[in-house]
Amino acid sequence: IDELLTEGVGGKRVFVRADLNVPLDGTTITDDGRIRAVLPTIARLAEAGARVIVASHLGRPKGAPDPAFSLAPAAARLGELLRADVAFATDTVGDSAEAVVAGLADGQVAVLENLRFNPGETAKDDAERGAFADRLAALADLYVGDGFGAVHRKHASVVDLPARLPHAAGGLIATEVGVLKKLTEDVARPYAVVLGGAKVSDKLGVIDHLLEKADRILIGGGMAFTFLKAQGHEVGSSLLQEDQIPAVQGYLKRAEERGVEFVLPVDFLVAEQFPDLKTKAPAHPETVRADAMPAGKMGLDNGPETCALYASKLADAATVFWNGPMGVFEHPDYAEGTRAVAQALLDSSAFTVVGGGDSAAAVRILGFDENAFGHISTGGGASLEYLEGKTLPGLAALED
Ligand code: 3PG
Repeated sequence: IDELLTEGVGGKRVFVRADLNVPLDGTTITDDGRIRAVLPTIARLAEAGARVIVASHLGRPKGAPDPAFSLAPAAARLGELLRADVAFATDTVGDSAEAVVAGLADGQVAVLENLRFNPGETAKDDAERGAFADRLAALADLYVGDGFGAVHRKHASVVDLPARLPHAAGGLIATEVGVLKKLTEDVARPYAVVLGGAKVSDKLGVIDHLLEKADRILIGGGMAFTFLKAQGHEVGSSLLQEDQIPAVQGYLKRAEERGVEFVLPVDFLVAEQFPDLKTKAPAHPETVRADAMPAGKMGLDNGPETCALYASKLADAATVFWNGPMGVFEHPDYAEGTRAVAQALLDSSAFTVVGGGDSAAAVRILGFDENAFGHISTGGGASLEYLEGKTLPGLAALED
C-alpha cells in the first residue's frame, strides 16, 4: 500500500477488501477488533484523497440478502471510529452500490452490503465467481486486499477481483504475514502452542505441522475430549469426534517419538447441560478429574489444577501461539480456563501471538488489554492455514 500511496490515489476509486466479520448480538457489535485493525488502511487512503469502497463478508448467509447478516452495524461503527460520515450501500453491485460510489467525493468512505448476499462471491465455479468479480471491478479503479481473516477463501472478492484491477496488500495483511512468518521461520524456543476450540478436525492440519516445529502443545476446549478418549478415558457426554480418534492417536505417538510434549487437562468443570448464554444463569458446575469424568456430564472448561498446570507450562516459553478458547468463556462460570491462559501469556516474557477470531475476541471480552500481547491476529482459519504452510489464495492473488 505504501507504493500505491506514493504513486498517488487522489480521486481514484479504491476497493478495500476488509474482514469486517465481527461478532454480533442482534445488531450490537460485541467485539470491534477487526474493524479497528483495518482502520489505518482505510484512513490512510481517505487522507490521500481516495474514494474508498470498503467491502466484506459477515457470517455465512446463503447467497441471498438476510438482514441478520447485514454489514450496516459495521459501517456505522467504522464511521464512529473514523469520525466521518460513512455511506452505506444496501446492495453490493446493484443500483444502491453504483449510486453510493458515484456520489463519493475525494477522501470519502463507503461500505457495501455483505458480499456473501451474492452467490457469485463464494461460488465454486470459476466463471460464476468471475462474472461477479467483473461487476465488482466496474465499481473501482484500484484494489487493496486487507481482509487477512479471509485470505484462505477462494472467493470472488479475494481472488478474482485483484486479477482484474491493479492491486496492493494493505497494512494489516503485511503485519499479519510478518508475524506469522516469524513463527514458521526463526522461532525463539521453547515454542509452546495452546490449541482450544470445539473441533479437533479443524486443527488436524496445524497439529500435523506443529509436531515438526513446536516444543510443547497444550490442548484445551472441546477438542481435548477426543484426545482423552484416544488415551482410553471416558468423557461422559462431552463433545467428542469419535472419527478423529485414530488421527489423534497417531499424533500422540509421533509427538512422543519427536520429543514434543503434549499437555492435556487434568481436571474439568462439568455439568449436565450446556449453559444458557442468553440469561447467563448460574450453571453450578462441579470439578472432576479428567480420568474420572462422570457419565451424563459434559466438560465445559478447564479445572483449577489444569489452569495452574498450563500457566506453569507457559511460564518459561520464549514464543507462544494460542488459538481457540479453553471453555465456554461466554458464560462467567466457564471463563476461568481461557482467562488463565491469557493471564499466563501476560505474565510470561514470551513473544505471544493470539490467533483466531474466537480467542482474540475472548481476550478483549474478558477485559484484557490487547496491546499487552505481542500480536493479536484477526485471522482464525487464515492464521492456522498459514502456519500449516498452505498457499493462501488471497495472498497469492496479491503477490503477482
Ligand atoms: C473468520 O471469521 O475466520 C473469517 O472472517 C472467515 O470467515 P469464514 O470462515 O466464514 O469464511
